[in-house]
Amino acid sequence: MSRALCRLDDIPDGEGRGFTLAPAEAEALAGGERDVFVVRRGGHAYGYVNSCPHVGTPLDWEPDRFMSRDRAHVQCATHGALFRIEDGVCVAGPCPGKKLRRLPLDLRDGEILV
Ligand code: FES
Repeated sequence: MSRALCRLDDIPDGEGRGFTLAPAEAEALAGGERDVFVVRRGGHAYGYVNSCPHVGTPLDWEPDRFMSRDRAHVQCATHGALFRIEDGVCVAGPCPGKKLRRLPLDLRDGEILV
C-alpha cells in the first residue's frame, strides 16, 4: 500500500522538501530513518534519507533548504558536501564517493508516492 507524500507540483522545480515517514514506512523503505526529503528536477522526483553520509547530521540548515545556491546539487549544511541530484553521490566536500541513502519513490498522476 503506497501513499502520496505530495504532488510533484507542490515542490518548485530545482528545490527540495522534507517529510517525516511513519515508523512502518521508515522500516520498509529507509532503513528505519524517518526523516527524508524529495528533490524535484523538471518532471522527476528523487528521494533520499535526510542524513549526511559524512557524520550523519540532517542536510538542511533550515526546513526545506536542501540545495546548493545554483540548485545544481544537494548540499549539506554542516560542512558543505555536494551531492548529485540523480544518484546522491558526493562529488565535492569531505565525503567524496559516499552516497545519500535512496528513498524509493513512484510518480503517478502527478503524485509522489512512497
Ligand atoms: S556532515 Fe555533511 S558534510 Fe559533514
